[in-house]
Amino acid sequence: MHVHPYERGWIIFSVVLLTVFGLALVISTMSLGVRLPGIVDRAAVAAAATPEYDLGEGWVRELGPGRYEVNVIAKMWSFDPGEIHIPVGSEVTFLFQSEDIVHGFKIMNTTVSTMVIPGQTGRVTYTFTEPGEFPFVCHEYCGVGHHLMSGKVIVE
Ligand code: CUA
Repeated sequence: MHVHPYERGWIIFSVVLLTVFGLALVISTMSLGVRLPGIVDRAAVAAAATPEYDLGEGWVRELGPGRYEVNVIAKMWSFDPGEIHIPVGSEVTFLFQSEDIVHGFKIMNTTVSTMVIPGQTGRVTYTFTEPGEFPFVCHEYCGVGHHLMSGKVIVE
């Protein structure tokens, strides 16, 4: 079979390129420990967080009169906690962590809107002056279950 030299050149180039990519995959998974995001150990997440991010004291912590701190974990594809209850008039500081990939957190009808980045602790403070339900969603596309990531803050 006759193969044009130009075509042969491209075939060789393609095979070499695929071999390099294949080797890169093998080396990164076998010896560099690169993994796809998956279930992550909560303790490891907490250990990687800044010291004030304390998973041990529950999701909602009262810091003082009318002041609360809420730990929010974003993961594929839900938030922990999915429902947050706080008294009206409270100043709430949200601390965000992601267990896997980049997510978002936006509370409707408030100024709370942030990205949730793995390995970093996000912090947003907001005062809820009106009672009611404030739905929150993930607003960074994060995969097939992205639209399932929602919850609500109930101000009572
Ligand atoms: Cu999490 Cu979109």
